[in-house]
Amino acid sequence: MHDFDKNYWEEHWVSATSPKERIMPVNPYLADETKQLSPGTALDAGCGIGTEALWLAENGWQVTGADISAAALATAARRAEETEQSHRVEWVETDVARWEPNRTWDLVTTHYAHPDTGQLAFYKRLGSWVATNGTLLIVGHHHGTHHQHEHPEEATVSLDAIAELFTEPDWRIEASYEQTRSVGHRSAPLHDVVVRVQRIRV
Ligand SMILES: C[S@@+](CC[C@H](N)C(=O)[O-])C[C@H]1O[C@@H](n2cnc3c(N)ncnc32)[C@H](O)[C@@H]1O
Repeated sequence: MHDFDKNYWEEHWVSATSPKERIMPVNPYLADETKQLSPGTALDAGCGIGTEALWLAENGWQVTGADISAAALATAARRAEETEQSHRVEWVETDVARWEPNRTWDLVTTHYAHPDTGQLAFYKRLGSWVATNGTLLIVGHHHGTHHQHEHPEEATVSLDAIAELFTEPDWRIEASYEQTRSVGHRSAPLHDVVVRVQRIRV
């Protein structure tokens, strides 16, 4: 099994004839789970070619899109110019599993990012960057229903395991569910876990 390291992700994004070939529709959970929030600052960790970051910018957020892949971010920046949202988004090339941003955001979100450090350590780290009263929105691959070749076990996660990371009185779980959906050209459906938590206190 390969490592989910920088080389893997650069290859993922440059192996398409054009990285734009990998464009997927914006993840539906983003609109559902942010509609009750007032736009502020947002981080999309593992933003890829920027689809969710750009959706947030278009919906009033001041966004940081962070990814380990320079190729992905170059495409994200070009797309931002095309949609005239570039003033609302900054792109940061970094390994978010080891990054020390020294700041917080009102919304921290991540969609299907699976760094080489494992899911739970990664989510805990993202939680430490959420401002008081802010929100963490996690979309991941559900543990147990993915084909091993596509999403190996270490890239998947369960709702219960995430819930153990974000407990009262510091956190309140606002949404937690599994959903299966079909996406564009993909032959196999995606089995998703979606968790939204609010940070009550630091
Ligand atoms: C499966 S893609 C998902 C992209 C996008 N969030 C989406 O939902 O379409 C996973 C993304 O996470 C990024 N990624 C993986 N490990 C990372 C890390 N340690 N630091 C930053 N980004 C990482 C990859 O480069 C890739 O863009």
